[in-house]
Amino acid sequence: MLNLIFLGPPGAGKGTQAQRLARRFAIPQLSTGDILRRAVAEGSPVGKRAKALMESGKLVPDEVVNEIVDEALARPEAQRGFLLDGFPRTVAQATALDEMLARRGRKIDYVLNLDVPAEVLVDRLSGRLTCPRDASTYHVRTNPPRRPGLCDRDDTPLVQRPDDQPEAVRRRLAEYQDKTALLTGYYKPRGVVRTIAGVGTPEEVEGRIVSALRDNVTAGPANP
Ligand code: AP5
Ligand code: MG
Repeated sequence: MLNLIFLGPPGAGKGTQAQRLARRFAIPQLSTGDILRRAVAEGSPVGKRAKALMESGKLVPDEVVNEIVDEALARPEAQRGFLLDGFPRTVAQATALDEMLARRGRKIDYVLNLDVPAEVLVDRLSGRLTCPRDASTYHVRTNPPRRPGLCDRDDTPLVQRPDDQPEAVRRRLAEYQDKTALLTGYYKPRGVVRTIAGVGTPEEVEGRIVSALRDNVTAGPANP
């Protein structure tokens, strides 16, 4: 069982790395952003509540995302472990997650904190292409699809996310600084935070994550 959280600002590569590790470890990627985007596309009540907030780059209310995660953790595929991508994002969400896990007799093994300079984030988000069907992400320059404009896995035409427009990107970075960045401090006393340099190719970043996890499996008690 491996219970992981990805922390890091918008564009840090949480989704990119979570998809890779989900395949590697055969555990599900639980991305609140992807789940909310599906809800928006379907026009469900949650989607209607979230749409304008997401497009402007603001956070969706805690109770909405807490419920999404509680449901996701109850699914059979999450019983072997999970990779949370984009949750928690506030202290209230982190305490709610603690309660959800305690209720199930589970705990967080590692918090992977992806560290990427601000100027790189803006470049990554402005060039990102997303598959609306399977939520995989590409970048026009640094991580292009094999065939221009088409998803490698299912040939779906790729789109730009509405919240990757400059104004929404600014708001998302500010929301991260105000509400999410302090979560590394929330988890630090537990000795589970691993800060990973998020620059370099996706393969290099994945290699760093895998060795951080491996070192700790073989090195015994975790370092802060
Ligand atoms: P969410 O979907 O979680 O967006 P985010 O946190 O802003 O993060 P991103 O998905 O933009 O970035 P990422 O770190 O996943 O980067 P990626 O791998 O794509 O949330 C969206 C919205 O939903 C929020 O604003 C909010 O409204 C709502 N929401 C979601 N969760 C919520 C919650 N818990 N509470 C409240 N509201 C919530 O990579 C970015 C780009 O860089 C891609 O183009 C990729 O190909 C490229 N790239 C990745 N790695 C590399 C690399 N190593 N080298 C070069 N390029 C790379
Ligand atoms: Mg993402």
